[in-house]
Amino acid sequence: MKKVIITGGAGFIGTSLVKALIEYGIEKILVIDDLSTGSKANLDNLLSDKKIEFIESRIEDIDNINDLFKDYDFCYHLAAGVGVQYIMDNLSESLLTNILATHKVLEACQANSLPVLLTSTSEVYGVAEDKVWTEETKSLIGPTTKLRWSYAASKMIDEFIALSLFKEGKVSPIVVRLFNIIGPNQLSKYGMVVPRFIEAAINDEDILIHGDGSQSRSFTWVEDVVTYLIKLAELKAYGEIFNIGQTEEISIKELAELIIEKSNSNSNIIFKSHEEIFGNSFEDPKRRTPGIEKIIEFTGIKPSKNIEFMIENIINHKQNN
Ligand SMILES: NC(=O)c1ccc[n+]([C@@H]2O[C@H](COP(=O)([O-])OP(=O)(O)OC[C@H]3O[C@@H](n4cnc5c(N)ncnc54)[C@H](O)[C@@H]3O)[C@@H](O)[C@H]2O)c1
Repeated sequence: MKKVIITGGAGFIGTSLVKALIEYGIEKILVIDDLSTGSKANLDNLLSDKKIEFIESRIEDIDNINDLFKDYDFCYHLAAGVGVQYIMDNLSESLLTNILATHKVLEACQANSLPVLLTSTSEVYGVAEDKVWTEETKSLIGPTTKLRWSYAASKMIDEFIALSLFKEGKVSPIVVRLFNIIGPNQLSKYGMVVPRFIEAAINDEDILIHGDGSQSRSFTWVEDVVTYLIKLAELKAYGEIFNIGQTEEISIKELAELIIEKSNSNSNIIFKSHEEIFGNSFEDPKRRTPGIEKIIEFTGIKPSKNIEFMIENIINHKQNN
């Protein structure tokens, strides 16, 4: 892997991936991003590096995408409408981006025999009742009237297209399902819970919990994720699906309490039902914990950071920036 394309490379995970690939010694990186949720500032001091080319465009609007992909040997496809708040605010647009842009990227990868890694999501498991969600867990997403599931459905379509093209011998895809990734550069404004709580806490504002706070999540450090993304490309894990996440669970109420404690905040915790916030087209999984045996066995790498480390680090970053 010497020359790499990263769609969505100005976003939260994409920026970390760009940095890690530069350290890895990649010769050339093409970042394609429409800056809908990403920001050039994320890549600021990296853009002067001659190894990086930046194209600001929606993938769907690029005419010569097959030519553009010609000189590269791997593609990380991260561009998508992301985040519950963003999805609910941009329903049809994010749904179509996730399907049409992905299809276009896969066609360009096919035309240039470029292996591609797709970032899918734990959302594809819906509200599956298994205690731990392995890659084979049956999905249980809600009815189409519950529009939050459009994100999950669009990512499932992406997986189906990629795996069908693989079965037909046309594309070499790797699919990863990411579980609640966090890190210093994640924005709060698209509904991501950790930056939202931390920003409220350091400003001594009320911390708003959606629901009763008993729902639990497992959070994973963004740098661990990009280590996996690079390793999977090295291992040429084509046609495979991997959960990437942590098994350590925390309830959302405990998370709010931990953030208040770690930031010495005077914030109060308040609760609002999901219906009050998102209307009645909303459903939310009670737990979300990945089975990660497969990724550990394949790569030999374990997630390295616990929730306390992650929260302290993000608080420090937000307090100093
Ligand atoms: N952060 C998480 O916890 C998480 C969890 C599961 C899956 N994922 C997946 O990981 C990927 C990266 O997510 P992130 O957290 O970095 O989000 P992000 O919003 O920070 O990154 C997405 C990037 O894609 C860009 N983009 C969106 N639509 C585009 C389009 N049509 N053309 C070109 N660029 C476009 C945005 O401007 C942004 O920079 C996404 O595919 C997301 O679905 C993330």
